[in-house]
Amino acid sequence: MIPIARPQMGPEEKELVWSALEAGALAQGARVHELEERFAEFIGVPHAVATSSGTTALHLALLAYGVGEGDEVVTVPFTFIASANSILYTGARPVFVDVEADTFNIDASLVEAAITPRTKAIMPVSLYGQPADLPAISEIAERHGLAIVEDACQSHGAAIGDRRSGTWGAGTFSFYPTKNMTTGEGGMITTADAEVADRARLLREHGMKVRYHHDVTGYNFRMSDIHASIGLAQLPKLPSNNARRREIAARYDAELRGVITPTVRPGVTHVYHQYTIRVNRRDDFVERLRERGVGSGVYYPIPVHRQTPFVALGYGDLRFPVTDLLTEQVMSIPVHPALTDGDVSTVVAVVNETAAELGPLAAEAAVRA
Ligand SMILES: Cc1ncc(COP(=O)(O)O)c(C=O)c1O
Repeated sequence: MIPIARPQMGPEEKELVWSALEAGALAQGARVHELEERFAEFIGVPHAVATSSGTTALHLALLAYGVGEGDEVVTVPFTFIASANSILYTGARPVFVDVEADTFNIDASLVEAAITPRTKAIMPVSLYGQPADLPAISEIAERHGLAIVEDACQSHGAAIGDRRSGTWGAGTFSFYPTKNMTTGEGGMITTADAEVADRARLLREHGMKVRYHHDVTGYNFRMSDIHASIGLAQLPKLPSNNARRREIAARYDAELRGVITPTVRPGVTHVYHQYTIRVNRRDDFVERLRERGVGSGVYYPIPVHRQTPFVALGYGDLRFPVTDLLTEQVMSIPVHPALTDGDVSTVVAVVNETAAELGPLAAEAAVRA
């Protein structure tokens, strides 16, 4: 089976983790600090704050902007549930807007209508490795005095022109094992705003600047030096791994037939955390690929507003036509850098054979939204 993801651990990871263990560097310390500095430099911002996960990075970034009870944050329902959950954790309410059918990202033209006097922030999600339309979002945010917390959990190294994901407002990254780089579990906030970074650090450490003097109610959202050691070995490999993902994606773009391949906006560097296609009879498609030895994933089969906790909060009857359509049609095929050229040829052959059997996505179904 060609798997949908395969985290790669080499001698560099082993060596760094082992040396951290030998040095007794177990909790947050010098390795975390070093990863923060290197990641900030890579993204192109002055500040980075490491966290225990992408979810805690999102939560902390919102808190750092002062988002809380009674506030609203505009985001999308077509994402991993952590984006919206992080808003709930602060006591604020997510306000969902639909996504674009071709990029899968927030439809910036819908954002303004969702803004109310209670709106505090916009959370665009740079899904699958393509940055959301951050210039447009940032123009709206500036006009309304709103914060931007970009969910960049899938877009390490992605860029619009020469500006990377994570440089608008606060960027939040996940280092979960399947991501383009990993620390095991872990996350990072990136920002140019020193106050936001300071506030995030304070809240990450139980509100403590001076040992056992607590200024505010905070959390333990720290990363450990053991995890940071994995990240320090992974980060230098991120550019070449992203390049390999892009090379594989270019082959899929050129060679796949009978499916809708992803659209990349001009001037955008997509880093293909996932290569996501839209297909006819998606669940049958997934099953046939599995029978033929090709792993795949459906991200995401149920939109956030129709997940049980959000239905309980009254979101269940909302309608987001593009999101609803995509949740029926999307599937992601292997694009990770461990694939050989032969694996890629196998995936192309199997996808094309399956698409020919199941029929192309009807033009009407593709644009139903
Ligand atoms: C879009 C998105 N947001 C948030 C997260 C949460 O990250 P983590 O799993 O590290 O908490 C993830 C990763 O799973 C994600 O893909």
